[in-house]
Amino acid sequence: MGLGKLCEFEKQANKVCFTYERGTAYLEIICENIVNVFLPCETQDHRSKAIEGEKAIPVDFSVTGKREQGADVVVVETEQLTVKVFDDFYVDFYKADGTLLCADSRKERKPRPALSEKSLAVLKAEGHDVSGGESLSYPVQTVKVMDGDEKFYGLGDKTGFLNKRDYEYENWNSDIPQAHTDSFKALYKSVPFLITLKSCGVFGLFFDNTNKSCFNLGKENEGYYFYGAAAGNLDYYFIYGEKMPEVVKGYTYLTGTTPLPQLWTLGFQQSRWGYDSAEMIREIAGTYRKLLIPCDVIHFDIDYMDGYRVFTWNEEDFGTPGGIIEEIGRSGFKTVCIVDPGVKREQGYAKYDEGVANDYYAKTPEGEVYVNEVWPGEAVYPDFGKKEVRDWWADNQRCMLSFGASGIWNDMNEPASFRGELPADVMFTDEDRPSPHSAVHNVYGHLMAKATYDGLKKYDGKRPFIITRACYAGTQKYATVWTGDNQSLWAHLQMAVPQLCNLGLSGLSFAGTDVGGFGADCTPELLCRWVELGAFSPLFRNHSSNGSIFQEPWRFDEKTLEINRKFICLRYQLLPYFYDLFWKGEKTGLPVIRPLVLHYEKDPNTWNLNDEFLVGEHLLVAPVLTQGAQKRMVYFPEGIWYDFFTGKEYSGGEYDLVSAPLDVCPVFAKAGSMIPTWEVMQYTGEKPYDTLKLKVFKGEGVYVHYQDNGADFAYRDGAYNLYEFRQDASGEVCHRMLQEGYGTPYRKIEYVR
Ligand code: GLC
Repeated sequence: MGLGKLCEFEKQANKVCFTYERGTAYLEIICENIVNVFLPCETQDHRSKAIEGEKAIPVDFSVTGKREQGADVVVVETEQLTVKVFDDFYVDFYKADGTLLCADSRKERKPRPALSEKSLAVLKAEGHDVSGGESLSYPVQTVKVMDGDEKFYGLGDKTGFLNKRDYEYENWNSDIPQAHTDSFKALYKSVPFLITLKSCGVFGLFFDNTNKSCFNLGKENEGYYFYGAAAGNLDYYFIYGEKMPEVVKGYTYLTGTTPLPQLWTLGFQQSRWGYDSAEMIREIAGTYRKLLIPCDVIHFDIDYMDGYRVFTWNEEDFGTPGGIIEEIGRSGFKTVCIVDPGVKREQGYAKYDEGVANDYYAKTPEGEVYVNEVWPGEAVYPDFGKKEVRDWWADNQRCMLSFGASGIWNDMNEPASFRGELPADVMFTDEDRPSPHSAVHNVYGHLMAKATYDGLKKYDGKRPFIITRACYAGTQKYATVWTGDNQSLWAHLQMAVPQLCNLGLSGLSFAGTDVGGFGADCTPELLCRWVELGAFSPLFRNHSSNGSIFQEPWRFDEKTLEINRKFICLRYQLLPYFYDLFWKGEKTGLPVIRPLVLHYEKDPNTWNLNDEFLVGEHLLVAPVLTQGAQKRMVYFPEGIWYDFFTGKEYSGGEYDLVSAPLDVCPVFAKAGSMIPTWEVMQYTGEKPYDTLKLKVFKGEGVYVHYQDNGADFAYRDGAYNLYEFRQDASGEVCHRMLQEGYGTPYRKIEYVR
């Protein structure tokens, strides 16, 4: 790192300051298992967008200068971790028992051979992108030794499989309309958080840098992995965990957990870009009710706006502002409206004029308002890095609430732009100072979601429901995410599982994919299989692109309709289980959807398991992800598992071939689990939830069920009930109340075996 010899070190409260020949670097002990490594390359302070508030707590730790194997070393010890710091600010992490977990590589990087000028020219001539290798020149980087048995997880929404080993990824929020494939280095989200699993232990690395960054996980060389950024500081957190869940908890301790959402947001949702009139919305809503397919939400895509001007209403096609929202609301539908960041450049349009008058938009280096193009044509970009712009945006949510919107869908906030990417030097703000697009890009969506959240919270008072496409680490505090513009491809259905699992490990617990696929044409079989996966996704929304085949549940044949209804009904039955997971997740940071490796990390069969997942700890879902398949292999981790529908028993540690005709999605419950279910309703809260049915799977176990009003923040003041269920080895279940704060407890609790 070029800092040279370590001259001095000094303990200052939670920090240790290291003075080198050519600079100063720091460690900060956040808590017993989390240490921040900080080399101020650009600014002296962290300027984190992901972490809010002070996270460091008082920790008893020692700092000792030593000589080990001929080198000066400073040893920092907490109860759980030992960190050794050397010349050149090489930092190694050990478990308290002395096991080396993660060492900085001391050797020069050895990239694989570069292409010759001749090859580059030929490739370029045929139109290939030969820009690869940018990461070579990243000025901020850290290189870690790779021992050989590392598996890598996390990193948000990246394409490909669960384990990211041997690949390189970039963090640069990107709206790429082509079909996403494994070769894509970046998608819409930047979550520079990696979980490394080794036989000797597991830990997380959170590289808190908003600039374009890369994670090269053994692709360049099998001897090391590295991450680096185009600018900013070397500012990362080492998060140790005895087991993987502790690492996820540590990461979400820093960046925040997903707050409990309103209950209706867990219901089924219908969307399509192309519902372009009130008439069409009325028809969609009416068909749901007529066909008795439960549905809670209709999404209003860009057509409800007047000429795609944000915070306006298209009266010509959608009638009186909010009228249709009120109308479908009478049959139990909530409405979520899209709001993009691009503000139409048009004098006389109030939002544009207001923004210009108050200096709210990003500017060129010459100080002119910067203009690009999005749906409304020429558009300008609110500078969400300024508090007053976020406040203005938050205030504008009143307009959406006045239309009757119950939630807001923030899209195109990478930010997307039709006339090429915003130049690196377009000027935004980072609170108290100017900041170029290159530094703000990856947090633009995050800041927009935060502003939207604050507005909804202030003016609606309910738990805000925001769906965002772009995000940064920590956005889970404000918004739900979806994986953007997938396509109706089997490959995308397959990719959905590792994507949702890695999003969950990256803190983004409330996530979903466009069920049925957004682009391209869905088929009846694909829709069936996707709804089977969707029923277990935290966000369960069927969405498709304008121009593609319609893919609402009834658009194909009777059988497809039945299968859709069946799985949507199953979701409504399982709502209390999902809701419980969200409530628990707010406290622990553990996701709803989990790869098996999260709970069975010692089992090698889980390390690369891409087509199964857990919902919480108790349900194992093995969706069919291949066209034509009527059976599939299912891996069962340790323990006894029961088929959720038939009760058939399976033993763990084995693969079994399981039958899965089109109307079956294999789901299993772990022995001892008790899964709460409710009566199916056409929408959440259609009738009071007065009966809880607990589906009991034999074995010893404890389950805590949560109940509240499903809407506001009263639960934070204790307005909730907690029921504890205990099952003994003979299958006997008893229950007791752990907390009574919500006035409408169940009238009846039934056990179903
Ligand atoms: C983007 C979104 C998509 C939306 C469309 C029109 O492509 O990702 O979900 O339907 O824009 O607003």
